[in-house]
Amino acid sequence: RRIVHYDTIDSTNTVAKKIAAEGAEEGAVVIAEEQTGGRGRLGRQWVSPKGAGIWMSLVLRPSIEPAEAAKITQIAAAAVTLAIRRVTGCEAGIKWPNDIILHKKKVCGILTEMGAELNSVSYIVVGIGINANVDVALFPEEVKRIATSIKDCVGNNISRKEIVLHILKEFEDLYLDFIYTKSIKKSVEICKAYSVTLGNTVKIINRDQTIIAEAVDLTEEGELIIRNQEGQMEKIISGEVSVRG
Ligand code: BTN
Repeated sequence: RRIVHYDTIDSTNTVAKKIAAEGAEEGAVVIAEEQTGGRGRLGRQWVSPKGAGIWMSLVLRPSIEPAEAAKITQIAAAAVTLAIRRVTGCEAGIKWPNDIILHKKKVCGILTEMGAELNSVSYIVVGIGINANVDVALFPEEVKRIATSIKDCVGNNISRKEIVLHILKEFEDLYLDFIYTKSIKKSVEICKAYSVTLGNTVKIINRDQTIIAEAVDLTEEGELIIRNQEGQMEKIISGEVSVRG
């Protein structure tokens, strides 16, 4: 497979989208030691210090509709969680839809972007950012409260290469299962098993409203089922909302 490695780059997602638009094959990986313009969801910045993290993006070409892109995020969340658990023994959890959590703090974020024509996806880029060996003491106070690193859980530096290899292996497994069965059931089972969201009260922030609700379950398609304060069940589709614990 094609692997492009950079010492410094603005954003691996931006590079991956560019090579995908130019025809890069499915499975291409862009990885960088440092990002100067790392991007998070909702237009946020993603701090990506040199040599300490895993900043990488995968190019995919599934035959899906644009509305299904969020399924790829669920597959990636399941793969990263399994990889962190298997390599480090740390009890990684998933905060729906795209954050991986260690000890209640964010250790990894996923940013799925796509190129689409009319009603078909021409490529998907799934960007994965993991605070692997980042020294939490260097985080600003406000970041310390919400973010952590694998190093902080393990107590010493871990092999980023081993984590990356495990992520690619777990991802390939779950992604191929999705391609063959057209269902992300297998990934959703993992997302449910390690969810830190289900069973808890969540605040769902939409553009025009905020809902306080209980996170009840995930559908087979990876959408969140909530019970609102009137006791009614609702289905929440990722990508349209911000969910807080
Ligand atoms: C989030 O939680 O808001 C998503 C963060 C995604 C960060 C990764 S790092 C690799 C890839 N390149 C980027 O610019 N962003 C993603």
